[in-house]
Amino acid sequence: MIAPSRFLAWLVLPLLALCSANLLADTVEGAPKALHLLDYIGADYPSTVEAGKVIDDAEYSEQLEFLGVLQGLIADLPAKPEKAELETGVSSLRSAIDGREDGAAVARQARQLGAKLAVAYEVSQAPIITPDPTRGAPLYAQHCSVCHGDTGAGDGPAGVGLTPP
Ligand code: HEC
Repeated sequence: MIAPSRFLAWLVLPLLALCSANLLADTVEGAPKALHLLDYIGADYPSTVEAGKVIDDAEYSEQLEFLGVLQGLIADLPAKPEKAELETGVSSLRSAIDGREDGAAVARQARQLGAKLAVAYEVSQAPIITPDPTRGAPLYAQHCSVCHGDTGAGDGPAGVGLTPP
């Protein structure tokens, strides 16, 4: 008969393995996701405000929503000496957006925060292998042209009526 302690080990070990696999996945995925959100905020926030006023309500609320997700992602990053600075950075980005501050300044803040995040968590921003356009073309035709159009003009059949096109 298997000793109870060994039996327990068999039961617990796979669970531990599962947990550490999850931990690993978070480490690998949280930082790049946060970086994408920062890119997105930097690109899309500026057109939502003008002279301290919101001029595009829907897009502005989307930015606030992304900020919430971003704060969660940063909070969940594994501990590192640089983490506190990143958390402070997201809070001040949030205050800037809450205060409807100038788009260019907020975009700069988002870029600088992204650069710090990329360095601290070693996020690679380039693909590991050189992308091959002969593979990309059929993938684009199959998955993207329906909205983006054959040449990327946003005039595919499923893109009609979408804003922005
Ligand atoms: C269902 C329609 C649809 C499909 C399919 C689609 N897109 Fe898009 N895509 C959009 C729309 C709409 C936007 C503009 C979103 C916005 O700016 O809010 C967009 C935006 C983008 C952008 C700009 C993002 C940015 O940050 O401004 C890129 C890049 C892009 N799509 C790439 C792709 C690729 C690559 C594919 C195929 C793998 C694809 N899209 C498939 C509708 C689609």
